[in-house]
Amino acid sequence: MATPVIAIANQKGGVGKTTTAINLAACLTVQRQNILLIDLDPQANATSGLGVEKTPGQSIYKALLGEVGVENVIRPTTYKRLDIIASELDLAGAEVDIARADNYLHRLKESLAPILEQDRYDFIFVDCPPSLGILTMNALTAAESLLIPLQCEYYALEGLSVIIDLVEKLRTSGTNPQLHLEGIIMTMYDGRTNLSQAVVQDVYKHFGNRIYETLIPRTIRLGEAPSFGKPIIDYDRQSVGAVAYLQLAKEFLQRRGSEEARSFPFQSESPIAEAAEAQAAQAEDREELPE
Ligand SMILES: Nc1ncnc2c1ncn2[C@@H]1O[C@H](COP(=O)(O)OP(=O)(O)O)[C@@H](O)[C@H]1O
Ligand SMILES: [Mg+2]
Repeated sequence: MATPVIAIANQKGGVGKTTTAINLAACLTVQRQNILLIDLDPQANATSGLGVEKTPGQSIYKALLGEVGVENVIRPTTYKRLDIIASELDLAGAEVDIARADNYLHRLKESLAPILEQDRYDFIFVDCPPSLGILTMNALTAAESLLIPLQCEYYALEGLSVIIDLVEKLRTSGTNPQLHLEGIIMTMYDGRTNLSQAVVQDVYKHFGNRIYETLIPRTIRLGEAPSFGKPIIDYDRQSVGAVAYLQLAKEFLQRRGSEEARSFPFQSESPIAEAAEAQAAQAEDREELPE
């Protein structure tokens, strides 16, 4: 079975896409899942939020243009079972370059193909920029499903139909027939306010059980963690934000009916497997995130 690619998208900025990408990925490693996180936003917040250096030439950019194989841009993070394809500012130029390339919606899908056939990762998450431009369109073309973080605020639902319609269009046009809504994650929930509760109820009316039961609270610690380059479970394991994302990871796996990490992930003779082994050896002293 090909590795599931899941796009984390919402054209609104500041709704918790990157926070969810980093923390869901980190918390899934605690469940023994091997994760690749692709930072597709030129702002590179997922990259810096995981304490990874931005290095010129070390992003998905060249792989999107077919200039290097994707395996050349995968890097280990300091955490076990969590790899990243970092972002860099150059990626901003990719929109223009890709638009001129053949098959421009399929660039990410094509560049990921070699690692999907290997059983190297259990999930690949794509942290999208806050727009429905060519990079996000590439993510939605490569993805099996879409995860939408939605901020608990008055206008939460506004604009949601735009991205939902886009999913429908990509599916029915044949660009990506398998694309579906993985789920909606309510973020920055404040249980003390009626507004947060009203927003969740309102979204529930429209999307029912597509909403995760786990609500992500608004907390200062979650906002602080990225500036230390750490996921919340490393920054403050006891915090309510850490508990929430650990719970979300469990619910995510339950909903997918996933088993615990699949056993032996790759064939030994492929060049990608060799690269992965070399990387694994190099990363042996990586940190095990606490349970
Ligand atoms: N649950 C939360 N509680 C408090 N602050 C949060 C929470 N989620 C995100 N933030 C902060 O809000 C800002 C926007 O979040 P971010 O995940 O970067 O959104 P996006 O990727 O959708 O633009 C960031 O400064 C982030 O640290
Ligand atoms: Mg972001």
